[in-house]
Amino acid sequence: MNFEPFELERLLSDWEQTVEFNFAESGVHPVSLGELLQLSDIDIKEFLETPLNYPEVNGEASLRKKIAGLYDGAKLQNILVTVGASEANYIIANTLLEKGDEIAVMQPTYMQFSGAAKNLGVKVNSFSLEAGNNWALNRQELLDAVNLNTKVISLVNPNNPTGKILSKEEMNAIVSIAQKFDAWLLADEVYSGAERQNVDVTQSFFGLYEKVIIVNGLSKAYGLPGLRIGWVVAPENIINELWKRHEYTTVSSSMLGNRLANLALRPDVKRALIARTRDLVDSGFEILQTYLNEIPGIFSVVPPMASALSFTSYNLPINSTELVHKLRREKDILLVPGDCFGLDGHLRISSALPREYLQDGLSRLNEVVRELAH
Ligand SMILES: Cc1ncc(COP(=O)(O)O)c(C=O)c1O
Repeated sequence: MNFEPFELERLLSDWEQTVEFNFAESGVHPVSLGELLQLSDIDIKEFLETPLNYPEVNGEASLRKKIAGLYDGAKLQNILVTVGASEANYIIANTLLEKGDEIAVMQPTYMQFSGAAKNLGVKVNSFSLEAGNNWALNRQELLDAVNLNTKVISLVNPNNPTGKILSKEEMNAIVSIAQKFDAWLLADEVYSGAERQNVDVTQSFFGLYEKVIIVNGLSKAYGLPGLRIGWVVAPENIINELWKRHEYTTVSSSMLGNRLANLALRPDVKRALIARTRDLVDSGFEILQTYLNEIPGIFSVVPPMASALSFTSYNLPINSTELVHKLRREKDILLVPGDCFGLDGHLRISSALPREYLQDGLSRLNEVVRELAH
């Protein structure tokens, strides 16, 4: 069977648990269970009474209510809770797409939706955020990528791997093309809330057009990837279609995930988690930048506006996958090669991590860079 693997996640599965310095992760340093419980100041004895039963299959009503409250005009029926944003993306592909359809995908991007689409026999067209132009949206490529056969325009905003946030004008340009061709607009907004300190919270695409589907979750901006809680916000008929696929895929997310997510979205806890994330994002990038500037003429990076990630180009005579494996073998550090995003000559580096860990690992990176630069 000709099934295209998800290259980035395969790299992580193979190496992330054993490597000494993991800069390939896509989130901020995770929050511990103890920290989350402490922040929410609940009665632990009472919490221990939580039945380890199935929650409501589409997510506990009280959790869906909190999620709906994050989107102006969303109701309970517009929400489906999933096992991470990844289940959301996967069942959306399986709901909206069939063999022979086309989609238009923003590049570079997290390639889950496009990979799932290819595996369904869908033609994938792409439009770029331009390297060398501050990752500005290439509007001509967007126009060229969409036609009457396009079912979905898919994007990640704030973007993984570049940390770019679309401007209001760029968002409007995408919405108006989707409207013109009657295509669904799928906006994966998992990095919303993980903005740098001086950057406004990213505006959601929700409500800008009736055929918008939002994917989000607790894995990135909230620092809670291990809860495996994601969600979809969409028109009710689409939620019902997704729900049918959700029953086949996972039945439901976990009861503990639902209950802890409910705590994480309590306004005071949410505020504290987001503040922690923004702090880590900012301080981590400053440290990363210092190390990238240490050896002149090698790295060039557009400072990310959000996310724990930087997508830096490098001026070294080596392919990005080869470089990543050399770093792993020789220095026990893991980065993601630009090849995983179709852009060789780049590295994705995660930096919203504890200071010392970051410094120790990045000095190892620079040992190899010095050797290669000679
Ligand atoms: C843009 C994007 N969407 C979805 C996911 C998957 O998130 P989750 O851990 O919630 O399944 C990731 C993880 O890296 C991501 O970067």
